[in-house]
Amino acid sequence: MEKFIAYNPVKLHFGKDVVNGLGKAASAYGKKVLFIYGKGSVKKYGYYDTVKKQLADEGLEIIEFSGIKPNPLIEDARDAMNIGLDNKVDMIVALGGGSVIDTAKMVGLGIANNTDPWLYMTHQEQPTKNIPLLNVLTLAATGTEMNAAAVLQNHESGQKIGYVHPLSFPAESFLDPTFTISVPQDYTAYGIIDLIAHSLEAYFGKGEPAVIDEITFAIIKDAINNGEKLLKHLDDYTLREAIMLDATLALNGLTVYGKFSGDWGVHSLGHEISLLFDTAHGATLSIAYPAWLKLHSNKIPDRIIKLGKALFGVHTVEDTIRELENTFVRLQSPIRLSNINLGEKDATELLSQYNKNSVSGIHHQLSEKDYDKLVGFMR
Ligand code: NZQ
Ligand code: ZN
Repeated sequence: MEKFIAYNPVKLHFGKDVVNGLGKAASAYGKKVLFIYGKGSVKKYGYYDTVKKQLADEGLEIIEFSGIKPNPLIEDARDAMNIGLDNKVDMIVALGGGSVIDTAKMVGLGIANNTDPWLYMTHQEQPTKNIPLLNVLTLAATGTEMNAAAVLQNHESGQKIGYVHPLSFPAESFLDPTFTISVPQDYTAYGIIDLIAHSLEAYFGKGEPAVIDEITFAIIKDAINNGEKLLKHLDDYTLREAIMLDATLALNGLTVYGKFSGDWGVHSLGHEISLLFDTAHGATLSIAYPAWLKLHSNKIPDRIIKLGKALFGVHTVEDTIRELENTFVRLQSPIRLSNINLGEKDATELLSQYNKNSVSGIHHQLSEKDYDKLVGFMR
């Protein structure tokens, strides 16, 4: 086991109708709210009205910023920050999935410190304070509701990068599985893949406490079991509830107790696919994970076999990878670049992007020679 610090200050409200407590909770943080949401699903399905009523009923002043896109952009964070500064907001309420909440995290740091959030993401500056962030989550996937991470794209610098800072923890997050029932089949699948990938990133991090391995396997098994059923019954509350809890548990710090960190190499590989081709995050991971495991099959066979035994009852590296690929296919997510209509030219572009940004994991380093093999496995 590695030495570790556990810290998570997020107040999580989970279950049916918890959003009824949003207005009261928000009123404890001030009077003016910057209300951030995405491209339209929240209005279509009524979540926008519910949240707005909660805030209005408490007499809070609401300033809106909308249009955050999946694979969110630093430009939107900067624009929202300027609106927040002009209006002197006290807090942010974010309604949406990972893209909206991640943007809100960087907007909050930007407003509190009056600084371009990209300077934080590239570690040129350090924030010293933040304003409170309250989230209403509409998509189970990223774990952003209970962690201190944010991921944004910058097309000017050609990067999709993550940023983690203790000041970025949300103050409170409201998770009603009912709000996720409208998530379409593709994003439901990508969310399940994402939470499995977070569990795997933790599993392949440095430090291997046995009890944490078992917790991690339990999360993955629950996600596979309920996920396959959910994709056939998208409106099943109990299945939505199970996946929502799995997603939070997979990336709220629990699975890296006793570890230096997760590895995050596969996420780095996936982010470059999203950056170049605007591919949904989860879809990049179901393509990159099998390739990463193939690359590591001779380097960490015991660890891969332990995973295969626990999840699928198989006893070899090859069978483990095959079973994982089959699972991703059953979960209706792509496992090759060709499945998302990317061809040879795209694969070559991806390879040069890996070289340009020197993508790597934290525990398992990746080199130029590896990129060649990885892209070969992804074809
Ligand atoms: O924009 P709208 O119209 O709201 O539609 C969204 C979007 O098109 C839609 N959606 C969300 N909730 C819905 C819904 N549609 C119907 N009903 C609902 N209830 O779903 C689409 C995808 O939304 P998005 O927020 O992009 O998805 P997700 O939650 O998967 O977030 C992905 C982003 O999070 C980052 C990813 O890289 C990606 O940019 N990640 C953040 C992490 C973190 N902060 O810890 C960790 C992850 O590894 C990940 O990197
Ligand atoms: Zn992820």
